[in-house]
Amino acid sequence: MIRVLFVCLGNICRSPLAEAIFNKKIEVAGMRNQFESDSAGTSDFHIGELPDERTLSCAKSHELSIHHRGRQVNRTDFRDFQYILAMDENNLNVLEQLKEQFGFPKKEIYLIRNFKDHTKSLSVPDPYYGGEEAFEEIYKILDEVIENFLNQVIVSHQLYV
Ligand code: 4NP
Repeated sequence: MIRVLFVCLGNICRSPLAEAIFNKKIEVAGMRNQFESDSAGTSDFHIGELPDERTLSCAKSHELSIHHRGRQVNRTDFRDFQYILAMDENNLNVLEQLKEQFGFPKKEIYLIRNFKDHTKSLSVPDPYYGGEEAFEEIYKILDEVIENFLNQVIVSHQLYV
């Protein structure tokens, strides 16, 4: 079982959407039982909350289902998840500090956009203060980069459908 954790700041916009995109891809690929996924935030701003309305409507328009309540990254995440994927450099920096604090100094944390898409930016931009088009923009970025991530994982773990 390969465990994948998507991390952003509030855990109500980017990371729940990323997880929903990932879940649909593994479902379509017939690989549901080879993965476990979740999402979390570096902040405690939205613990227990449903995803942002705009996240939900973006997900709905792409036929993605989201079942999530906001939560904050914790110590056991560093133990349990093989792939911890940060949305931006701020999230990455916080995770790099937390892994030391929590006693997992060797844990590798990835910036999700290192799994290559057509742009050179390394961050999935925070859509919180944007409009609906900001959510469509992050959907497109995430869809492309998560496709690449999944393909790389399939190759490196020699997974077969
Ligand atoms: P997210 O977006 O990190 O993609 O979930 C944000 C959600 C909430 C806030 C910032 C970003 N906030 O400041 O409350």
